[in-house]
Amino acid sequence: MTPPELRPDVPHSARIYDYVLGGKDNFEADRVAAEKMLEGMPSLRVSMRANRRFMVKAARFMARQGIRQFLDVGTGLPTHPNLHEVVQGEAPEAKVVYVDNDPLVLVHARALLIPVGTGTVSYLDADLREPEAIFSALPIRDGFDLAQPVAVTLIAVLQHIVDDDIARDIVSRVMAPLVPGSALAIAAVTTENDERGGDHTVQTYNRSGVPVRPRSLGEVEALFGDLPRVEPGVVLVHRWRPAGEDAGIEDKDVAMYGGVAFKR
Ligand SMILES: C[S@@+](CC[C@H](N)C(=O)[O-])C[C@H]1O[C@@H](n2cnc3c(N)ncnc32)[C@H](O)[C@@H]1O
Repeated sequence: MTPPELRPDVPHSARIYDYVLGGKDNFEADRVAAEKMLEGMPSLRVSMRANRRFMVKAARFMARQGIRQFLDVGTGLPTHPNLHEVVQGEAPEAKVVYVDNDPLVLVHARALLIPVGTGTVSYLDADLREPEAIFSALPIRDGFDLAQPVAVTLIAVLQHIVDDDIARDIVSRVMAPLVPGSALAIAAVTTENDERGGDHTVQTYNRSGVPVRPRSLGEVEALFGDLPRVEPGVVLVHRWRPAGEDAGIEDKDVAMYGGVAFKR
């Protein structure tokens, strides 16, 4: 039987997300569900776009700091610009490994695998909850040099790990094998700035079929453990080193905190 995430007649969260971001990998059922979500939460599109821009700003920043290996976990469907396009635009030799556990993302992964530089791009069908399996898999074992720094990007994925202790443990296990100079970028869902108190937002997310745990500023900071964050610390994603369309966005419309830290 076709798994629900591959059925065009059943709305799927990644395809709803794709539609809201203006992508083409979605079906009628997804568009209907997405429009319903947007009716209840008109700022969703603003927030999602601000989140993608945060990914771009953070990835570019880490590439400019000299990092040449990128591990992106919870990649989602291909959305221009993809992370490898950003970092290989800065450093053509950069290597990127994408990881996601959704079969639908796997189906679309081919579109992610076209390097724009001389470096490599690989895709791994794996689970963030098993970091050791990620590091022992071929794309990392043979593709990365773990004696050199790695930038880990966890963009809009940790809200799916609803237990705080487990989420912090996962982040520390992901960073443990990496050498000093490695970096971590996190963007995580919050409802702290939602004028309606947040319940509505959480319900909107949960209706897409995936459990979501919004976090406070302190809880998102705690996900970084003792890794020192670069300026401006953890802030709403449009306030992190603002660029382009970030100007003019109101805090109440953004439901994501983000930050970047380096391992010493
Ligand atoms: C909201 S999307 C974010 C996509 C992209 N990072 C972005 O910000 O545009 C979350 C992604 O995380 C993936 N994901 C959720 N839980 C995961 C897990 N335990 N391991 C790997 N990927 C996971 C989902 O399949 C989905 O593609």
